[in-house]
Amino acid sequence: GKGRHRHFMAKEIEEQPEVVAHTLTTYLNPSEGTVNLPETGIDFSNISRLTISACGTAYLAGLISKYWFETLARLPVEIDIASELRYRDVPYQKGEAALFVSQSGETADTLAAMRHAAEAGVTVGAVVNVTQSTMAREADAVFPIKAGPEIGVASTKAFTCQLATLACLAIAAGRARGYVTPEREAELCESLLKLPRLMNDVLAHAEEFDRLGTLLQPARDVLYLGRGVSFPMALEGALKLKEISYIHAEGYAAGELKHGPIALVDEHVPVIVIAPRDAHFEKTVSNMHEVMARGGKCLLLATEKGLEAAKTDEPLLGSFAMPDVDPLFSPLIYALPIQLLAYHTAVHKGTDVDQPRNLAKSVTVE
Ligand code: M6R
Repeated sequence: GKGRHRHFMAKEIEEQPEVVAHTLTTYLNPSEGTVNLPETGIDFSNISRLTISACGTAYLAGLISKYWFETLARLPVEIDIASELRYRDVPYQKGEAALFVSQSGETADTLAAMRHAAEAGVTVGAVVNVTQSTMAREADAVFPIKAGPEIGVASTKAFTCQLATLACLAIAAGRARGYVTPEREAELCESLLKLPRLMNDVLAHAEEFDRLGTLLQPARDVLYLGRGVSFPMALEGALKLKEISYIHAEGYAAGELKHGPIALVDEHVPVIVIAPRDAHFEKTVSNMHEVMARGGKCLLLATEKGLEAAKTDEPLLGSFAMPDVDPLFSPLIYALPIQLLAYHTAVHKGTDVDQPRNLAKSVTVE
């Protein structure tokens, strides 16, 4: 049940430090600082390309992992939403591999895209939560995300456990392809193993989102901005908010702002800026200042130092101080404020958080 929580979503948000720790120790050995994949895995060492596909939040976890596979394993990644990939005329080659990400393992489009790739002779891996699912049964390799049952329609802990699993896969791919040395592997494992504690640090201040939620509640439209791995996070923030609060929200790559969406900015459109301390920080903050110069009201998610560095005369609509984290893996931590913001906004609006209108937990029809 929900225990002391008002909603399953609140419970599942809070479970993340524990379940992510469990996922990580499934795939990596903390004392040795190595990643160990299940026996029947995917041979990343000599594939020419990796295809990734999924729907909704699972797709966004896949999109984040694209950055990881490229950076850590120098592996070309093709990624598309499953409802498109299944009908595309993809020129698959034998000896390629593909990963399909799904909490339920039953999503119709993801399953169809997986079958299509398998028929083309591609080795298919399923990154799933439900290990008795159709996708798990049919895939050549199964990578359980170990999140435990997720009841809330809005995916939270499955997302971070998908990320934890995909991060381990990317490290393993990097090692298999000779781009990740044993020293680097140990460092990366250490960075990952720190994440559950950092998640707890964020959750210790979760009550701040009650107030931040009141700031979004009156909005008709909300924009989310991020660069690099924070771009898919912007998409995830917007998806989460629209799904449970019914507020129209869009995520954009911060650099794409000037190419259209900045026309939407006025004092009535809150803009959520996701800016961890990474190589993109200055650029993202300068995009935020462009928004503010046009009267936009920004809510900044950044480290204490980042918040200090981003200061201007114009006050922010709001901010939340995030812990320092390995920039590569920041999505696992920034997922929390994104989820909490959507959750509290929805609670203030009085919507049905766990069962939003028109949505099903598992989309088994096309
Ligand atoms: O079970 P799956 O992971 O395949 O589901 C995919 C999407 O339907 C799912 O992530 C959906 O977008 C969530 N409701 C998002 O919170």
